[in-house]
Amino acid sequence: MATIVPAPSSQSVAAALAATGVGTLTTPTYEWFTDDETLLSVPEFDDDAAIVVGSTATNDAHIELLQLQDAVREAGATDITTVIPYLGYARQDQAFKTGQPVSARAMAKAISTGTDRVIVVNPHEPDVTDFFTVPTEAVDAAAALADPLDDLSEPLFVAPDEGATALATTTRDAYGEGEVDYFEKERDYDTGAVEVTPSDATVEGRDVVLVDDIIATGGTMSGAINALHDHDVGRVYACCVHPVLAGAARTKLAAAGVEAVIGTDTIERAVSDVSVAPAIADVLR
Ligand code: R5P
Repeated sequence: MATIVPAPSSQSVAAALAATGVGTLTTPTYEWFTDDETLLSVPEFDDDAAIVVGSTATNDAHIELLQLQDAVREAGATDITTVIPYLGYARQDQAFKTGQPVSARAMAKAISTGTDRVIVVNPHEPDVTDFFTVPTEAVDAAAALADPLDDLSEPLFVAPDEGATALATTTRDAYGEGEVDYFEKERDYDTGAVEVTPSDATVEGRDVVLVDDIIATGGTMSGAINALHDHDVGRVYACCVHPVLAGAARTKLAAAGVEAVIGTDTIERAVSDVSVAPAIADVLR
């Protein structure tokens, strides 16, 4: 049996992972000092195998994950798996201008030094797994987003941009019925403004389930919801694997008239209705 070691950012998902039976939880000590340094420690444990679980949604969370990896190695673990429910910086998967870093690669290299294996949930760009220098697998948790959906009327599952079509299809398949479509999206990278152009699918009277990997500023989802409400649409749900929900994102979605926001526990938010733990456990077994 492995020892599951939760980082501060991923306590719920680690508990849910333990409930699947893939390991037993240990309780690390988290200390934060006045100079902003952290000290995360693990109690002694007997297992050779450790599963460190930590989303890296913030810069601090990156440091906390690296400290826990090092702590379990110090505690004697010889087989370390690092589970990253939400991989921060995955959208910086290339240098967009001369002189800029490939941040996803820098983070992946650092994380790789402290582990024997990595599991990451729905990374924004699947190819970021190549940046890790240890065996790395991506888990698709989009099926779980269908769990809270019930009794939809003529459902239409929509990706707010073409890149999310596979996620919308996975969620539709898990729900069991409905069509899949995608909208066109253009983002002005200077202002951050997002323009979403709906497809010509008929939406009148239908319940629409929008599915994306991330809701960050909420610009993409609120644009899609607003576009749908130009028609006599039924209920509109906004689903995402990673509910980053930065700034006023949740309010933007409410103001646009969303029926419900459904997210997972890769980032622990009020909308984290479903857990990615069963999908992670399937890979760990
Ligand atoms: C973009 O390709 C992603 O799939 C998401 O649509 C995007 O990251 C969401 O960001 P925001 O909520 O800021 O529009």
